[in-house]
Amino acid sequence: MSKTILITGGAGFIGSHVVREFVLKYPEYQIINLDALTYAGNLENLKDIEACANYRFIKADITDQGLILELFQQYQPDGIIHLAAESHVDRSITDPSAFVMTNVIGTVNLLNAAKEIWKNNFEGKRFHHVSTDEVYGTLGETGLFKETTSYDPHSPYSASKASSDHFVRAYHDTYGLPIVITNCSNNYGPNHFPEKLIPLCIHNILNNRPLPIYGDGKFTRDWLFVIDHAKAIDLVFHQGKNGDSYNVGGFNEWKNIDLVKELCRQVDEKLNRATGTADQLITFVKDRPGHDLRYAIDATKINQELGYQPSVTFEQGLSITIDWFLQNQDWLDSVTSGDYQNYYKKQYH
Ligand code: NAD
Ligand code: TYD
Repeated sequence: MSKTILITGGAGFIGSHVVREFVLKYPEYQIINLDALTYAGNLENLKDIEACANYRFIKADITDQGLILELFQQYQPDGIIHLAAESHVDRSITDPSAFVMTNVIGTVNLLNAAKEIWKNNFEGKRFHHVSTDEVYGTLGETGLFKETTSYDPHSPYSASKASSDHFVRAYHDTYGLPIVITNCSNNYGPNHFPEKLIPLCIHNILNNRPLPIYGDGKFTRDWLFVIDHAKAIDLVFHQGKNGDSYNVGGFNEWKNIDLVKELCRQVDEKLNRATGTADQLITFVKDRPGHDLRYAIDATKINQELGYQPSVTFEQGLSITIDWFLQNQDWLDSVTSGDYQNYYKKQYH
């Protein structure tokens, strides 16, 4: 094996696509997936590659400083791709401390462990921190987030991610740790946990339940297909400039209400029903506190410096996503049983 790459959060939505991309594309790498398997982690997401010779899963919590150092000493990773996080804004509003623990303390534990085992010999080493565009706060009706945009987080989630980004940069500036950061826009695709807008609406359409739209539905997000995010991570991990950050997106802004209507249209079409059937489920509900109006990524840097281009259009990506959910209703049923029901009741009733 030419390199050992440790991917945190590899059982989650984006992490599972990153693990698959690396396991299949780099048979010469040993890929270690380190994940605590919280409510959002699911090894079913990786069933197709779990028997690959270059893949190994370790159940561990990144908030456990001692265990993380021990594992780093044992496996001596050359590269870290860090995705493990608490990732849902609404949950961060009800329980901010969990976000500080995993997203801030957990990240610092990983940085310390990398610094300890690499011992200032950084040749061939890389710590890739996967972050979000939400650290930049909100845009008005115009403008785009650039890598130089000041951080201005508003939710406990984005504040914890912003804090972790600052620590990652601080370890580069202070100790010379070789780092890169990617700040990506909203992802969608197969295996998306149905607490987030798109999979929640697909799940609710399939169960004939209301589609809850916060506020007036005019909030705007910039959507990227998850496999295109995984490809961007591969590119930046291998070719990104040490110490730099890269915004990742596909110039694909949608107001929530327009997006949900397009989703309804495609689901009706795939189920051979009259257009407008799913639309009737749209229900405007109380707004999210501190709701950011608009996110939009300027992806010029990653495009010009690394030649990055998304591989699918939004229409193609959404169609693949809906097909996946229609064909994997067992997966949806299993992740929405148990605790999800309590979460849903608390959040929406
Ligand atoms: P997710 O919630 O689907 O998955 C998170 C994974 O991390 C799960 O497998 C979970 O078990 C694991 N995890 C959580 N706490 C842990 C801990 N203490 N120790 C070890 N593992 C732990 O999240 P996601 O949507 O796949 O996001 C992955 C990363 O990408 C996050 O860092 C997130 O901030 C970032 N990101 C997400 C989006 C998006 O649209 N979802 C966009 C940009 C960036
Ligand atoms: P979400 O998928 O939670 O991602 P994020 O908050 O990280 O952008 O939400 C996407 C958008 O959809 C956001 O503006 C909030 C809105 N939203 C709803 O209107 N209803 C919902 O039930 C959810 C979960 C989100």
